[in-house]
Amino acid sequence: MKEIELKNLTKIYSPDILALKEVSLTIEQGEFVFLTGQSGCGKSTFLKLLSGQDAPTSGEVWVRGHCTSRLTHYQVPFYRRMFGIVQADMGLLKDRTVRQNLEFAMYATEQPAGLTRRRVEQTLRTVGIPSKARHYPHELSGGEAARALLARALVTDPKILILDEPTANLDSSASWDLMCLVDEINRMGITVIVASHDRELVTIMKKRVITFARGELVGDGKNGVYGMERGNPFRRPR
Ligand SMILES: Nc1ncnc2c1ncn2[C@@H]1O[C@H](COP(=O)(O)OP(=O)(O)O)[C@@H](O)[C@H]1O
Ligand SMILES: [Mg+2]
Repeated sequence: MKEIELKNLTKIYSPDILALKEVSLTIEQGEFVFLTGQSGCGKSTFLKLLSGQDAPTSGEVWVRGHCTSRLTHYQVPFYRRMFGIVQADMGLLKDRTVRQNLEFAMYATEQPAGLTRRRVEQTLRTVGIPSKARHYPHELSGGEAARALLARALVTDPKILILDEPTANLDSSASWDLMCLVDEINRMGITVIVASHDRELVTIMKKRVITFARGELVGDGKNGVYGMERGNPFRRPR
């Protein structure tokens, strides 16, 4: 099933920063997709338009039959709840334990209160940190903190998991562990979209790779192959 469809997506930040230019693509339900390209190429912008955190200047974002520009005020929170999001500007609440962070995510998205306890325990087990439930964020290692963020994104049972540079603060071994975990979660049926400029990681994971260069989609390949149509955007001009 076609889950996500983007049609001629353009984003211009005022006054004249062209962050995305006429991007069109589709993502199937259950896919695992990397978005890659140099810093500033538009990856985070793309994810924010997809999850409804920002609006395109032109073009359309369709997810599961809903178009973001046609959502009513009432529908917006329901649209956003389709996504579990891990991104740098959404850290854990520092004055709450891991469990309380997950409970707060359940509360904030108005999930049935009766589900909270079981869902939180189950999600912490899924990401492999059940023993950290009572710990505060400053008591976690980098890898554990990344898992806690992943758990918070998953606890609300989203359809689509979005990770924006999830390995930015991890060493290569913790990065690999986290990506293997995300792969397992994808195999449970959730669609996964990961923005990363870590070429090595993207290559080794052997997933679909969508590449941007200066806001344009320049490659769409399978099995970790970049599938570049117009040269290599990673090679800097001499
Ligand atoms: N809120 C914003 N306001 C103005 N310019 C922005 C904003 N967010 C991103 N940009 C610009 O848009 C371009 C794409 O940025 P971004 O999507 O963050 O790229 P990436 O995530 O690939 O590093 C960059 O030139 C960046 O400076
Ligand atoms: Mg970014």
